[in-house]
Amino acid sequence: MSAEGRTWGGRFTGGMHELTREYTAGMDRDLWEFDIAGSIAHARMLGRQGIIPAADADAIIAGLETVREKFRRGEIPWNPELEDIHTHIEAALRDLIGDPAGRLHTARSRNDQVALVNRMAVRALCDDAAAALRELILVICELAERHAADPMPGYTHVQRAQPITLGHHLLAYGEMLLRDRDRFLDCRRRVNVMPLGSGALAGAPYPLDREMVARELGFDAISRNSIDATADRDFVAEFCFACAMTQVHISRLAEEIILWASSEYAFVRLPDAFATGSSIMPQKKNADVAELARGRAGRLIGELTGILATLKGLPLAYNRDLQEDKAYYLAAGRTLIPTLQVFAAMLPALQFDLARMHEAAGQGYALATDIADYLVKKGMPFRQAHAVVGGLVREAESRGCELNELPFEVYRAASPLFEPDVLAITVESALDARDIPGGTAPRRVREAARELRTLVS
Ligand code: ARG
Repeated sequence: MSAEGRTWGGRFTGGMHELTREYTAGMDRDLWEFDIAGSIAHARMLGRQGIIPAADADAIIAGLETVREKFRRGEIPWNPELEDIHTHIEAALRDLIGDPAGRLHTARSRNDQVALVNRMAVRALCDDAAAALRELILVICELAERHAADPMPGYTHVQRAQPITLGHHLLAYGEMLLRDRDRFLDCRRRVNVMPLGSGALAGAPYPLDREMVARELGFDAISRNSIDATADRDFVAEFCFACAMTQVHISRLAEEIILWASSEYAFVRLPDAFATGSSIMPQKKNADVAELARGRAGRLIGELTGILATLKGLPLAYNRDLQEDKAYYLAAGRTLIPTLQVFAAMLPALQFDLARMHEAAGQGYALATDIADYLVKKGMPFRQAHAVVGGLVREAESRGCELNELPFEVYRAASPLFEPDVLAITVESALDARDIPGGTAPRRVREAARELRTLVS
């Protein structure tokens, strides 16, 4: 290494401007564990293949294990003279074992090295996200079972539309999050390809055993093209998309919690543990967790846009622009995973006002469709039934009452098909009637919750 501790100083005579050093420094401090694991696998393979002396390989491996311990104990200070995590680790190794450290970088470039580290880091984040999603989905299943028969108004256009159950509504989020989990697992498949051996871009002129390195590091396959392997960051964009999509889903739930907690809806009371107050208005209890989750969806969309913009038009193979990738995926993971965790803790603590939700479920002519269906079952074409019930709604509106408060004669006048049992249409009968797969009938909701639970178990 040069006097400045650089790994590439040989052809340089001038020192680096302080601003250049600062400007080019990596954001990869937290990735030491992956880089060390990758280097140990690489050194072991180099020794096994006789590319470096076995004794040097052993010294490198033992040294890296010590370096790992030092990182764990926080004993490796960040040195701005050293460019990135790769050079920090190599410098720490050299301090420990001296000259054999110089053989570690045989048949390797930082370009395939950083591709490896990125893939290991994103793979771990995919696993963390999938696990956090699983926990949240299980919480939702449990709540859905508890509220499988509790009615609430279902909305379209933020207008009361038809009664649904709270359990059914919550399971809608369960479905979204299940897709999100699948996306992380799917992303992981493409992440889990081992790039080491690609060198700077053209491959390495040594008899490497790439499969051995892949096996040791838990990869399913090795990359097939060294240029692509060093230039590819699709997996970062995919990961950022999976994070953004998930947080967008959470933002919709967050928005509903915020609305439900308002005195206009008053469907839910926020537990103190997940609310904050106002410094000026003593009565306030704000849904800040939900608001921040909603707001942070914006940040995740930003991370996705950022990585795509970085990749757009970038010529092959490695360019330093790619160093920015870490900022995007690390921020995405650090935003999403705590969001999933806090929601898994908060949802069971929400205090639903089930009586009020039940009452609201039947208001606002929410049973109009069911009355139209009543006529359809007696033989009337649906379009005609729609018009008949539309007339009844108009009548109820002018009297300022609900549909089931209209006298039976009004129904009879609207159609001779009406019998007194039309007044027996209730929220409960409307829910029970939707007894098909995917429907809101309590029995189906329980069934769907069970199915979702097995899908993530
Ligand atoms: N710190 C760099 C990154 O994160 C490592 C690779 C640098 N390679 C190079 N040839 N300058 O992308």
